[in-house]
Amino acid sequence: MPDALKLLTTRRSFKPVELAGPAPSAAEVDQLLTVASRVPDHGKLAPWRFIVFEGHARLAAGDAIAKAYAAKYPQAKPEHVEAERNRLTRAPLVVAVVSRAAPHVKIPEWEQVLSAGAAAMNLVLAAHALGYGASWITEWYAYDRGVLDSFGLAPNERIAGFVHIGRPPGPPEDRPRPPLSEIASRFSA
Ligand SMILES: Cc1cc2nc3c(=O)[nH]c(=O)nc-3n(C[C@H](O)[C@H](O)[C@H](O)COP(=O)(O)O)c2cc1C
Repeated sequence: MPDALKLLTTRRSFKPVELAGPAPSAAEVDQLLTVASRVPDHGKLAPWRFIVFEGHARLAAGDAIAKAYAAKYPQAKPEHVEAERNRLTRAPLVVAVVSRAAPHVKIPEWEQVLSAGAAAMNLVLAAHALGYGASWITEWYAYDRGVLDSFGLAPNERIAGFVHIGRPPGPPEDRPRPPLSEIASRFSA
């Protein structure tokens, strides 16, 4: 499958602000989430879930981010609080990949967390395969309890990433990658 290999060897992240509308259609969002959920998952626990932010809901969700920011930085300038409100409006579609990893009699929690990472990466790749660009980011609000509460995350749930999706401005420039000699070795006895 040369197309798949080309995608894998040329894919780059875009900045959320570079990702323009129109947003993926409802059918495309279903396709994206279907691919995202089709990942290795030891014990078939589905230790992840997705929250879709699109349209006006992105700004409503931004209210929680702005509120948390203002509480954290009471001296913050109004324009900075306003910028926080727009965090999720930079790209036309944002999908929060939520890790639901929890202690289990057989399956290590670490493996459940890794599966959430795989789901996020599959989502990024599916977006590219559909002709969109993507950005997998967390930023500060992924770690703010007030924001997580307002997004409905349970205490054991964590944000693996906010995957921003939209139309890319053009072909991306690559960035340096670690040489294989530094990251790979052959085991020899
Ligand atoms: C879990 C996770 C969280 C990330 N969070 C951020 C972030 O908050 N801000 C950011 O600029 N990049 C973040 N990144 C890095 C970008 O996703 C991306 O890897 C980086 O911009 C390099 O782009 P590339 O995919 O083109 O190599 C994160 C990556 C991962 C795996």
